Amino acid sequence: MIEEAAKLIAHSRFLIAFTGAGISAESGIPTFRGHGGLWENYRVEEVATPEAFRRNPSLVWDFYKMRIRKMKDAKPNKAHLALAELEKMGILKAVITQNIDDLHRRAGSENVIELHGNIYRVKCTSCDYRENLKESGRLDEFLDEGELPGCPKCGSLLRPDVVWFGEPLPEQALDEAFNLARRADLCLVIGTSAQVFPAAYIPMLVKDEGGRIIEINPDNTGITHLADIILRGKAGEIMDGLLKKIRHEVRR
Ligand code: OAD
Ligand code: ZN
Repeated sequence: MIEEAAKLIAHSRFLIAFTGAGISAESGIPTFRGHGGLWENYRVEEVATPEAFRRNPSLVWDFYKMRIRKMKDAKPNKAHLALAELEKMGILKAVITQNIDDLHRRAGSENVIELHGNIYRVKCTSCDYRENLKESGRLDEFLDEGELPGCPKCGSLLRPDVVWFGEPLPEQALDEAFNLARRADLCLVIGTSAQVFPAAYIPMLVKDEGGRIIEINPDNTGITHLADIILRGKAGEIMDGLLKKIRHEVRR
């Protein structure tokens, strides 16, 4: 199976990757669903909807600051690094991710499309103010601040620049992702339960347009039935083995 996958990847014309929380599990970041997942300890309706933020912004900010601290200390794992290398080799054309943890970029991937936002970005609830706390150097100060964060421009409440349930996805990112999916002849689907839409349409679109799917996941998911090759296991371990075989295949 893994040999076949390596061959398909090495000889692909337009490979893309579609990733979810599972690719960051080996970096110590919890997934959402399943055993030990975030949604086991938190209720979506209390921390991840616009209504929740209106009702209790402090609770929502506590949840996101906790997640920022966790993600800040995490490091990219072998799966993130393998995708970055495949891009450098000219094989992988883009990573489309549902993750907000920034680990793809930190691993060195350049063409990264974030469908659900980014944990280090904040935006104003009233005006057009946006800030990347990592780039502005304000992250630590922001995390230590006891009060609710205010907009430097207009004083209104700042919110995380992430997509909550019931909110539309960023239009440009979604358009770009759908276009890439239509062009792709091969898609690596890594660490996602493929249960959240519209993101989960991406591998479906690849398949609709005649492309193939390689799934990397320890469990069955919403797209397993569409997968041409299924590699069962942890993303870091599988991607590491796969990369070695791909390098070999390319050199032949
Ligand atoms: P889920 O938590 O739904 O699914 C995680 C997937 O990762 C599961 O299929 C696991 O089997 C798999 N997994 C666990 N450990 C793994 C490992 N080491 N290697 C590979 N796979 C592993 O996460 P997502 O599919 O990303 O949205 O969830 C999609 C969206 O739902 C998220 O972006 C978030 C969430 O609620 C919003 O917040 C809008
Ligand atoms: Zn403002």
